[in-house]
Amino acid sequence: MTTFRIKRFNPEKQADPYWEDIEYDIPPGATLLDCLNDIKWTRDGTLSYRMSCRSAICGSCGMKANGHALLACQRQAEHLLKDGRDTITIEPMGNMPVIKDLVVDMGEFWEKVNQVKPYLKEKEKPPEKERRQSPEQFKLIDDASTCIMCGCCYSDCNTLEVDKNFLGPAALAKAQRFVQDSRDEGTGERVRELSEAGGIWDCTHCAECVERCPKPAQPMYRIKEIMSVALEEGVTNNNGARHALSFVKSIKHSGRLNENTLPVESMGYFNIKGLMELVPVGLRMLLKGKIPPIIHKNIDDVEDVRRIFRELGE
Ligand code: SF4
Ligand code: SF4
Ligand code: FES
Repeated sequence: MTTFRIKRFNPEKQADPYWEDIEYDIPPGATLLDCLNDIKWTRDGTLSYRMSCRSAICGSCGMKANGHALLACQRQAEHLLKDGRDTITIEPMGNMPVIKDLVVDMGEFWEKVNQVKPYLKEKEKPPEKERRQSPEQFKLIDDASTCIMCGCCYSDCNTLEVDKNFLGPAALAKAQRFVQDSRDEGTGERVRELSEAGGIWDCTHCAECVERCPKPAQPMYRIKEIMSVALEEGVTNNNGARHALSFVKSIKHSGRLNENTLPVESMGYFNIKGLMELVPVGLRMLLKGKIPPIIHKNIDDVEDVRRIFRELGE
């Protein structure tokens, strides 16, 4: 027997969520969704969750199992019992308000997808027949186009935990699908908007979305691709781009990070207000003895680093 520890919530009956333990014998080969369906259909019809295709296509059955978001129809229940576990904890996805049991309100998620304008922008009238792409052109957007909008990445994104303004991995993966679409004519405008606060540069590269994504969409890599396009398009007047450029400059020059110039260059030399905001941090570092050496030295084998840059450049 396995314990299914399910987080229940029904605001019409009880203000706070609570955990319910259900003992259940997992049938061989059953997915987590199969088990939940059996529990709902034979034991407790009030258990609420979303599902539709049962084939990892529709994106409806996102939920958290053992603390991480997944598609319930895609995971064998027994695979959640590794390392001698006898309990599977099941919760609603994170970073979204819960409506009932495992059903979350995805309104904000969809608003953010809409914010990135997920449609082709063309200056000219649509052609009479289809808009053609070469296989190479399609390859650039192939991964992002596999997104099924399940919300698993959004659920577990660390930046969203602390910054609700962040567009989030799914919307940014969707944005890449248009930024690099050969048929789209809004690239410059798109990367300028995506470089604003809450956009690409607020991603912390924690890779959680890559771990959680059930498809090749893998948002963090798509975000990095937008960053590259933004830099190529010269959209550098923002903290994130300046930070990346300063980082590269320092490593290329000395082989190590210059932690004295990095914050100043990221903020921008003429951004007086931003620079003033750094002063208290600098003072705290000084008091704690954390100020890096004033004289920034090259590493011994800096020529090797420069050679790597030259080869990458080529
Ligand atoms: S890599 Fe970026 S978008 Fe993905 S989960 Fe981490 S912070 Fe969020
Ligand atoms: S990027 Fe992946 S995890 Fe995020 S919504 Fe799309 S398919 Fe789901
Ligand atoms: S039920 Fe459609 S993705 Fe799981």
